[in-house]
Amino acid sequence: MSAPQLLTTIRATRAALERKRAGGLTVAFVPTMGALHEGHLSLVRRARELADTVVVSIFVNPLQFGAGEDLDAYPRTLDADIEALAAEGVDFVFAPTAREMYPAGASSTMVTAGHIGTLLEGATRPGHFDGMLTVVAKLFNIVNPDVALFGQKDAQQVFLVRRMVADLNLPLDLEIVPTVREADGLALSSRNRFLDEGARQAALALSAALQAADAAAGDGLVELLAEATASFGDHDAVTLDYLVVVDPATFLPVDEHFRGRAIALVAARVGATRLIDNASITIG
Ligand code: PAF
Repeated sequence: MSAPQLLTTIRATRAALERKRAGGLTVAFVPTMGALHEGHLSLVRRARELADTVVVSIFVNPLQFGAGEDLDAYPRTLDADIEALAAEGVDFVFAPTAREMYPAGASSTMVTAGHIGTLLEGATRPGHFDGMLTVVAKLFNIVNPDVALFGQKDAQQVFLVRRMVADLNLPLDLEIVPTVREADGLALSSRNRFLDEGARQAALALSAALQAADAAAGDGLVELLAEATASFGDHDAVTLDYLVVVDPATFLPVDEHFRGRAIALVAARVGATRLIDNASITIG
C-alpha cells in the first residue's frame, strides 16, 4: 500500500478533501493524538469499510491537558504512526502543529461540555472535555467528514461528542467502535507503554473489576459495586479513582432501583499512569 499523503495545514487539508468530494467520494475521519495501537487501527479499518476516503488526524491537543498533566510526556511517534496507517490504506494524515490549530495561542471561543463534562474524568481533569470538544469541533470543520469514528474505550468522550453533534446540528454520522483488549483483558491505550511489567500486571485490576461487575449485575447495583470494588483489594499497586455505573442515556450514576443496560466505568492510577476502562452491563 502507498503511504498516506501527509498534510500539515488547514488550507491544504480542506483543498485535498474538497477535490475528493467534488469527485463524488465520501470521507471517513478518525481523530487521534497519535501513538497509534491496534485500538486506533480497528477504527481505521472500520473507516475503510464506511467511506471512499479515509483521513486520520494526529494532534496532541494542548487544550485538553491540564497543568501538571502529561502533555509533554505524551508519546509522539509520527513516523511509526504513518507507517502503520500506510499498511491500512489510509489516504490522508492531517498532522498540524499547535500553532496551525491555535494561531492566537489559545482558543477564546470554546465548546463547553456542561455538567457531564465536570463528572468522572472531568472531575479529575477540569477543563479536559471542553478542550476535547473544542478541538473535535475544529477538526470536524476542517475535514468535513461524512462519518467520524471514536472508540468506546473513552465512553464519556463518546457521550459528549454525540451530544455536541446533536446539540450543534453537525452534519455527520458517528460510528463507535468496541474497545480492543489484550488476550488477558487489558484495554489498549497509548498510555500502556508507560507500564513496566509489574505495573502492567497490576493494571489488570481494571478489566477484572469490570468482569466482576458484569458477573454480579444480575444481583443489582449494590452487589455489583461491592464485588467489583472487592476485586481491587488484590492489587495494592493500584489506586482506585472511581468505579461507577451510569445510565447510557444520561451518563448520570444509576441508583439501586435501576434495571436495564448500563455502563460500568472505572479509573485508577497504576504508579504514575492513570488508566480508564468501561463495559456495558445489564442490571437486574
Ligand atoms: O481520544 C483522543 O485521542 C482525543 O481526545 C481526540 C478525540 C483525538 C481529541 O483530541
